[in-house]
Amino acid sequence: MKKDKIEVTDETVGIICPVYAGEMPRMVRSFLAKASIQANYIFFIYTYGMSSSVAKPNAISAAEKAGIKLDYVNTIKMVDNYLPGFEVKNQIDTAVQKNIEGQIETVCRDIEQHKQNVHGINLFHKAGIAIIGNTMGRALLKGNNAKSYIVNDQCIKCGICAKVCPANNITVKDKVCFSDHCEVCYACLHHCPKNAIHLKNERSSVRFRNEHITLKEIIDANQ
Ligand SMILES: Cc1cc2nc3c(=O)[nH]c(=O)nc-3n(C[C@H](O)[C@H](O)[C@H](O)COP(=O)(O)O)c2cc1C
Ligand code: SF4
Ligand code: SF4
Repeated sequence: MKKDKIEVTDETVGIICPVYAGEMPRMVRSFLAKASIQANYIFFIYTYGMSSSVAKPNAISAAEKAGIKLDYVNTIKMVDNYLPGFEVKNQIDTAVQKNIEGQIETVCRDIEQHKQNVHGINLFHKAGIAIIGNTMGRALLKGNNAKSYIVNDQCIKCGICAKVCPANNITVKDKVCFSDHCEVCYACLHHCPKNAIHLKNERSSVRFRNEHITLKEIIDANQ
């Protein structure tokens, strides 16, 4: 995302991102708009927590607009890490019921077999995308800015929050400062080793980290 031009050429190319308010994160939309992807098979996988709503047709439509023809679009229901909406402890405790590994296996098998499942989007989809994704979704996410975050005195100024932020929205010097181009991913909140960052409207102070991804992998990907 830090490059002006993105060119990807491979046999198979996949985009994997979370559902944010019924669509893809703003950063992924920008990626699609500026990426040139040459591949025999292109897949798009969303992770989500409760309802993916119109996210699938949204991906097909956004990719089409960017001149990218998707072959396969699917979703994987996981722990919901949307802190204002969910008790994260409850999400972690009930994750087993979602059969996350089983869903991943199915998606992997489909991709290995180059399954095609993308059909055109109809008027019903277009209305859903406009109302739920583009209008309600973007309005919901717009509110997050520097003033949304509180850093308490547990902070040890380790700088991890700045390193995991995909948007370069945090600086750590004498104190932790947030700018106004937040992507609302909550990586800073979930990865702070002291649980020092809080949202004014979070449902609880419990945080979630995916056990299969190391902190180093996230930081390296950001660099
Ligand atoms: C800002 C925000 C908005 C979200 N909106 C939705 C949503 O509309 N529907 C849903 O099912 N999950 C939603 N979620 C939950 C995430 O999609 C889910 O937790 C996802 O697996 C997170 O992936 P990540 O760990 O790669 O960030 C949202 C999460 C965030 C942070
Ligand atoms: S990750 Fe937490 S402890 Fe480290 S600088 Fe950021 S807020 Fe402070
Ligand atoms: S939620 Fe935190 S890590 Fe994510 S973009 Fe905003 S400031 Fe950066």
